[in-house]
Amino acid sequence: MLIFDPEKKTSFKRLISHGDLVIVYERHDNMKAVKVSEGSVLQNRFGVFKHSDWIGKPFGSKVFSNKGGFVYLLAPTPELWTLVLSHRTQILYIADISFVIMYLEIVPGCIVLESGTGSGSLTTSLARAVAPTGHVYTFDFHEQRAASAREDFDKTGLSSLITVDVRDIQGQGFPDKFSGLVDAIFLDLPQPWLAIPSAGKMLKQDGILCSFSPCIEQVQCTSETLRSNFTDIRTFEVLLRTYEVRDVKMDCQGLEEVGSPGSLPCKRKQCSNGGSSVGNISSPSTVLARPSSEARGHTGYLTFARLKCLS
Ligand SMILES: C[S@@+](CC[C@H](N)C(=O)[O-])C[C@H]1O[C@@H](n2cnc3c(N)ncnc32)[C@H](O)[C@@H]1O
Repeated sequence: MLIFDPEKKTSFKRLISHGDLVIVYERHDNMKAVKVSEGSVLQNRFGVFKHSDWIGKPFGSKVFSNKGGFVYLLAPTPELWTLVLSHRTQILYIADISFVIMYLEIVPGCIVLESGTGSGSLTTSLARAVAPTGHVYTFDFHEQRAASAREDFDKTGLSSLITVDVRDIQGQGFPDKFSGLVDAIFLDLPQPWLAIPSAGKMLKQDGILCSFSPCIEQVQCTSETLRSNFTDIRTFEVLLRTYEVRDVKMDCQGLEEVGSPGSLPCKRKQCSNGGSSVGNISSPSTVLARPSSEARGHTGYLTFARLKCLS
């Protein structure tokens, strides 16, 4: 699905064809991945959608059902894939993923090692970040998970950028063939400190490691182990707050949102006929902004460290 043109940045084929994976978007919290197949249909509460109507349309198109309902057909970017993939394990989400890619300094051409692969949520973004000339080698000791991840990378068109292997990284470490060749390493393992001595051998001088752990006790143990060979050891918790920003009707005094009792406190800005002004109580509607109740809380801690220079 993703086309990697070495001359240009990663880009999508613009027209949908038979066999493509598309993200069928109803709302930001209702999307699913569908493989386009000439004779198939998608049926939902909006009616029946014929796949044959989708073929030849650009990604991003609005398509209609037999009843006039509609959905959007979006390209399967890593950002959307993370929201629709099947959860075989806990996964990393966009806030942690973006921080990891930035802080690990991952750019096109990088060689990255990862363990465990899990559901491949992070792997998908790592692959796009290293494309077109880099590579992600990802390891999981669970054979079925590794096989399912491989199938997913085929579907999303990333398999040329990712190699999935079955290996116990805590017990055996990373394969010796990577010694001194790796730009960045990411660990999402229950006992990451067991893999750190091997990770240190794989990294290029100045290479960076990141370990994700849900519990602070794991972070303490990891940081203690990192001290012997790594420097600049730092731990972060990435907390994301999303906002609902929308028009609401006012009550008779023009001061209160018409909504359910017990809603979160809001910042209020009132708008009059196309323009905007603060404090115009004669306006029939107002724009409210408040923290979304569906915001995700703690996911885990990210510990980063840089390999100590030898000289
Ligand atoms: C939480 S999941 C990783 C999720 C992944 N970061 C994602 O975003 O989809 C952890 C994975 O580590 C794997 N794992 C646990 N111990 C391992 C070990 N010793 N060697 C390799 N993989 C291991 C598990 O099988 C599991 O799939």
